[in-house]
Amino acid sequence: MDTAYLIECASLLLRWLHVIVAIAWIGSSFYFIWLDNSLKPPTDPALIAKGVGGELWAVHGGGFYNPQKYLGAPPRLPDELHWFKWESYSTWLSGFVLISTLYYLQAGAYMVDPSKLIQSPGLAVLAGLGSLVLGWLVYDTLCRLLIDRSQLLFGVIYYLFVVGMAFGLSHLISGRAAFLHIGAMLATTMSANVFFWIIPGQKKIIAAMERGEAPDPIHGRRGKQRSVHNNYITLPVIFCMISNHYAFTYSGSLAWLVLALIMLAAVLIRHFFNLRHKGKLAWQYPLAGVLLLLGVFIWLAPSRPAAATAEAKPTLPVLASIRPIINDRCIACHAEKPTMMPAAPAGVKLDSEAGIRAVAPRIYQQVVQLKAMPLGNVTKITDDERAQIAKWFEAGAH
Ligand code: HEC
Repeated sequence: MDTAYLIECASLLLRWLHVIVAIAWIGSSFYFIWLDNSLKPPTDPALIAKGVGGELWAVHGGGFYNPQKYLGAPPRLPDELHWFKWESYSTWLSGFVLISTLYYLQAGAYMVDPSKLIQSPGLAVLAGLGSLVLGWLVYDTLCRLLIDRSQLLFGVIYYLFVVGMAFGLSHLISGRAAFLHIGAMLATTMSANVFFWIIPGQKKIIAAMERGEAPDPIHGRRGKQRSVHNNYITLPVIFCMISNHYAFTYSGSLAWLVLALIMLAAVLIRHFFNLRHKGKLAWQYPLAGVLLLLGVFIWLAPSRPAAATAEAKPTLPVLASIRPIINDRCIACHAEKPTMMPAAPAGVKLDSEAGIRAVAPRIYQQVVQLKAMPLGNVTKITDDERAQIAKWFEAGAH
């Protein structure tokens, strides 16, 4: 078995694992936010006497559930207490191995873009890794400074910081890698919140109880602050993680602004759900979010392929006329034995006429309509060459 195939198998297993553990993490986190927001004060005097501040009834999978939340700590610690931390840690770990396999080991193809500032794969990886660390340090400092201030103020300042990072990264590395790294930066912050603050805080609360002392309420406040932030960050992160399938979002020169608007829309939509759990229906938030998304889609709609320049230079719209373009711009990655990739990505091999014909509509879509290929335009295709490919395809792809 060759290494290209082994990398492909490893990436399949890692991605699969990453999605599964992320579902477990985000699923449990959504569940607890919903639970917290939906609890009602108990009416049963026995529950009130026990110190229960909120409860609810739910039916699921044929059984009835009655979770109860204690106002402070329960009078006695139970023998078995469930913790929620490995969902988060395993999501981060599998994500880090995945980004390393796909982006850091193939940085020349995935992270470097000739039109961006960084041209060395090593530096591109450093910029990516640096953004993860910087993102956490700035977030953590802001959290400490603003723990007693309005969380809306925190949100505005942090949002501006994230947009600034998107602006910076999208000028340094390829748009695709920049979007993924903003997602990875936010997700690293979420996991670091769990690892450095939420879980240690819970451990301190329990240690104090075991010593028979009242736990310091600061641990509860910090944990709450950070888990609320995690909740709002979730939807933007998931957009960043799937964005690499949608080249139109990350390939323009204002991609950082596209990302800023989509993240804002995601936060507004999340806010609606958080309010709805508490019984408030504030439709203005999702409405604003949906309008923002529609606005972005309309703004980014492709104009007709620029065939005008090609018209000036008459070229025969037959395959032979575009073969040299494909040879120069594509086969470094798309060939039986590519030089820039371990194996032809997406199985697209363009080093034979049959191979090109087999995927002609996809070539048109990727090169002309979406401008997603060549990846990061590493091979520097020109607008004129794109127009020639458009002409060839529109004339019937003969
Ligand atoms: C630097 C490497 C690289 C170069 C150069 C490159 N591609 Fe790709 N191509 C990829 C990768 C990686 C994918 C897999 C899709 C993804 O990960 O987004 C891909 C996917 C594709 C697909 C399949 C997309 C789909 O899902 O339908 C087509 C078609 C394609 N490329 C055409 C081209 C053409 C035509 C050129 C030259 C103009 C080109 N590519 C140049 C790396 C490259």
